[in-house]
Amino acid sequence: MAEAAHAEAIDPVVEKALSEANLTARDLSAVAVTIGPGLSLCLRVGVRKARNIAGLFSKPIVGVHHMEAHALVARLVQQDLQFPFLALLISGGHNLLILAQSLGQYVQLGTTIDDAIGEAYDKTAKWLGLDMRRSGGPAIEQLALEGDAESVKFSTPMKQHKDCNFSYAGLKTQVRLAIESRKINAQIPLSSATTQDRSERADIAASFQRVAVLHLEERCERAIDWAMEMEPSLKYLVVSGGVASNKYVRSRLDQVVKRKSLELVCPPASLCTDNGVMIAWTGIEHFRMGRFDPPPPAEEPDDAMYDLRPRWPLGEEHVKGRSEARSLRTARIHPSLTSIIQESLQKQS
Ligand code: KG4
Ligand code: ZN
Repeated sequence: MAEAAHAEAIDPVVEKALSEANLTARDLSAVAVTIGPGLSLCLRVGVRKARNIAGLFSKPIVGVHHMEAHALVARLVQQDLQFPFLALLISGGHNLLILAQSLGQYVQLGTTIDDAIGEAYDKTAKWLGLDMRRSGGPAIEQLALEGDAESVKFSTPMKQHKDCNFSYAGLKTQVRLAIESRKINAQIPLSSATTQDRSERADIAASFQRVAVLHLEERCERAIDWAMEMEPSLKYLVVSGGVASNKYVRSRLDQVVKRKSLELVCPPASLCTDNGVMIAWTGIEHFRMGRFDPPPPAEEPDDAMYDLRPRWPLGEEHVKGRSEARSLRTARIHPSLTSIIQESLQKQS
């Protein structure tokens, strides 16, 4: 179904982007396309389209890493944002802390061992019977304003692990149990709840949010220390991904960053979520450095073998960041973007 949805959208989306930019494919300098990580069935739809255009008009092609693009889009909006910087990427599907040392050189300080924070927001909203039309995050953020964040005692994930990895599966379970024990009925929408019921739901929303974000704060604080050891000139923490539009998240992280004398950079919400602008921008960054592939042949069979990287780390893991829980799942992982770039730089010199 995901593949079919991509296949249906790809032509109109490309046409719309070109017509809004008042350009034709002939005017382009190059074509950038996501080659990983992600579902290969979906990646293939985009890569096939990109290679069709590039082949037809003889344009170079730039293969882009989806997570690198989330981080680099910050440099589009804040042009003076220089390397090195730290990036926290938080959405429904990812929870990642990376140190960006230069274009293409990344160290992964932490990632999630199970769920991402956005997934925990979405499930909590669903179990509390909130309006999910704008996804669960905004609904929780709003209801939490009415609640007492200290009222339900959830424990902070991974306290005993002194690293920068994340886990949200346990917090999700704690929230579900709290909801069940209070007999909150998600079938009754919030708008029809009694005052007492509404205030109980608000307390859970606020208490969940406090702990979910506290987990981010603790990890970011440690990540800043690790990053400063490697890059003493570090100035910025970039926060991007759907959850970065949350005002409580921003204000709490802003305090962490200020305590460490750094600056917080949050791209506008429209650029924080998955979007084409970030892929195009990352393509420009690499294109300027001469990192691109020559135009593909004009006629390529539809079933051609493409270079797709469904499981593709951005950089090497920081030595202190390795987690046993994750090292078990290393099958069929592509070499990281950073290691590929380093290898090609060594060949050149
Ligand atoms: O980046 P995104 O649009 O898509 C991916 O998941 O890749 O992020 C969507 C996630 C959803 O889980 C949604 O609940 C969360 O971002 N989100 C928020 C807020 N707005 C969106 N979470 C917390 N507070 C928000 N205001
Ligand atoms: Zn994304």
